[in-house]
Amino acid sequence: MNIDGKPWRTIWLEPDGTPGMHRVGVIDQTLLPHQFSTRTLVSCDEAAEAIRSMVVRGAPLIGVTGAYGLMLALQADASDAALAAAFEQLNATRPTAINLRWALERVRAKVQPLPPQQRAEAARVEAGAIADEDVAMGEAIGEHGLQLLQQLAAARPPARQGEPLNVLTHCNAGWVATVDWGTALAPIYKAHRAGLQVHVWVDETRPRNQGASLTAWELGREGVPHTVIVDNAGGHLMQHGQVDAVIVGTDRTTRTGDVCNKIGTYLKALAARDNGVPFYVALPASTIDWQVSDGVAEIPIEARSAAEVTHIQGRGADGAITSVQLSPDGSAGFNPAFDVTPARLVTALITERGVVAASEEGLRSLYGETV
Ligand code: MRU
Repeated sequence: MNIDGKPWRTIWLEPDGTPGMHRVGVIDQTLLPHQFSTRTLVSCDEAAEAIRSMVVRGAPLIGVTGAYGLMLALQADASDAALAAAFEQLNATRPTAINLRWALERVRAKVQPLPPQQRAEAARVEAGAIADEDVAMGEAIGEHGLQLLQQLAAARPPARQGEPLNVLTHCNAGWVATVDWGTALAPIYKAHRAGLQVHVWVDETRPRNQGASLTAWELGREGVPHTVIVDNAGGHLMQHGQVDAVIVGTDRTTRTGDVCNKIGTYLKALAARDNGVPFYVALPASTIDWQVSDGVAEIPIEARSAAEVTHIQGRGADGAITSVQLSPDGSAGFNPAFDVTPARLVTALITERGVVAASEEGLRSLYGETV
């Protein structure tokens, strides 16, 4: 994606000064949309902290950051013990997105059989491959989703043909949640670039407001018309025919097609079902957990700090980014970060291999060789 005319990925390598050694550059997402600034991660500890504090976030980007985190660890100490400790440290940062464990296991499988002096370089190569594949998968999801949006636009009654297609999204499953393109937003970018008129309802996505801050920012950079709404407005808009489709991302997809995504996604799926609005979930293969069949029972849901509920961050009148308290002193807060939408509420999955039913049969028809 372009920022002020310059193409950016969300994560990249920087030379370390020592031949063969690298640092990792990332965009600091805790400051967006008010401030665009980058950070350089120099150690596994810093990579782990960047994931935990959500300097980087979004399932695919967490995975790539974890992969580069292993590289940083191995640059400092390439022993078996250091590899095992770094794997555990990074894997423990955020429990829900399966991409993290998937990427860590992929790098570990490459480096473990090698002599220690070859491990950091092998980790760099594998992490780079994961990053490049993520970009390609996002773009392919965009192409498949574009066809879907074109079909939806064409199927509207003649009186609505001239109007923009209204898509509602929750949280941020855009390019800052991935290396580039995004998942849920990739079809929207493709549609916009293809000249299909599209307008996005952006759920603010409390408590951290990834919609109001990140999705709105991204869409604005690309010139995609959008409107930020409070999380509770979606059902009302659907009842009044103002939503043609919902598209969201996922942090973990069971082999049966249940999807775990940002808290509140489930309520959007219920409202969509009640109003006959198609509910699509966009995902790359790295998000599928083939070990899990019952999402509600089996997927670990991250509980984040209650302070994210009782407080809110924004830009003050003086331009400074600040946090203010919403609830009374002493009120408890509870902050589950994700929920599970059962497959029965999902109209279809949009993957890099095509659009498919949210079911074990559907996923096996695309990914049979991986199971
Ligand atoms: O807590 P976050 O901001 O990491 O949650 C992100 C989401 O829920 C996204 O929808 C999901 O990771 C899919 S990103 C392509």
